[in-house]
Amino acid sequence: MDANTTCDVCEVRMHEARIRETTLDGQRAIVTGANSGIGEGIAKGLAEAGAAVVVNYVRGDDQAQRVVDEIRSAGGRALPFQADVSNEEEVQAMFRRAIDEFGTVDILVNNAGLQVDAPFHDMTLAQWRKVIDVNLTGQFLCAREAIREFLRRGVVAELSCSAGKIICVSSVHDVIPWAGHANYAASKGGVSMLMKTLAQEYAMRKIRINAISPGAIKTPINTSAWTTKDAEAALLKLIPYYRVGETRDIARAAVWLASDHSDYVTGATLYVDGGMTLYPEFREGG
Ligand code: BGC
Repeated sequence: MDANTTCDVCEVRMHEARIRETTLDGQRAIVTGANSGIGEGIAKGLAEAGAAVVVNYVRGDDQAQRVVDEIRSAGGRALPFQADVSNEEEVQAMFRRAIDEFGTVDILVNNAGLQVDAPFHDMTLAQWRKVIDVNLTGQFLCAREAIREFLRRGVVAELSCSAGKIICVSSVHDVIPWAGHANYAASKGGVSMLMKTLAQEYAMRKIRINAISPGAIKTPINTSAWTTKDAEAALLKLIPYYRVGETRDIARAAVWLASDHSDYVTGATLYVDGGMTLYPEFREGG
């Protein structure tokens, strides 16, 4: 056999490796805040790629059940689970249920988040705390349970090159200051450093942790920014790629970050924002 000929066994192995890289078959994911918006899109994307998915939600049983039904009728595996991500016992119960049902957890998508907007001088402590509790402490509590499970289980080479993946859904407002949304911007800045610190802390244990920072995506959180023609026109001035994002734009990035295609990527933030972070006002000026 000359050096350029590949043996049959190697061919089969390479083929299997390619398949493993492109699918999440056999893997198990938890997506928080998955009953609507970006979380729903990501849950469906991961399920399409082959993962069994826990559809977490805090309110809206019907919507969560709808997402689960849609995943199941497309041939996927899904389970609804109600838990407030800022509540330690509820998060622990969610991980116990996921592990009982699916055996383990390979992927966590820390997506649950909310906005409670107010001019800073009027912002109440309750408004500040609510946003930090859900958007930042929620990511801490879920990531901690996921990492405990990843460390317990270690790498299962047939499924993935890494012992586990966490995707933190952040926002362009982890770098773009946002007047009137100080609690939200502070929470997302916090998510960014939480993600990088965990990535540094656990890379040696083969755990990959990355973030996706979406720009303006059509979801219930920001309907006022794109439902009227005037609002959409104002928004488009901030988006060089000149379209408002769709949840599938984020879902595709999440599938890539969860798969072995991104195996050498950790501690990174992927801005999926149509160029919103490129200071578009500077196209003419500066
Ligand atoms: C916010 C949206 C906003 C977008 C761009 C997101 O993080 O949740 O309300 O439209 O950033 O400003």
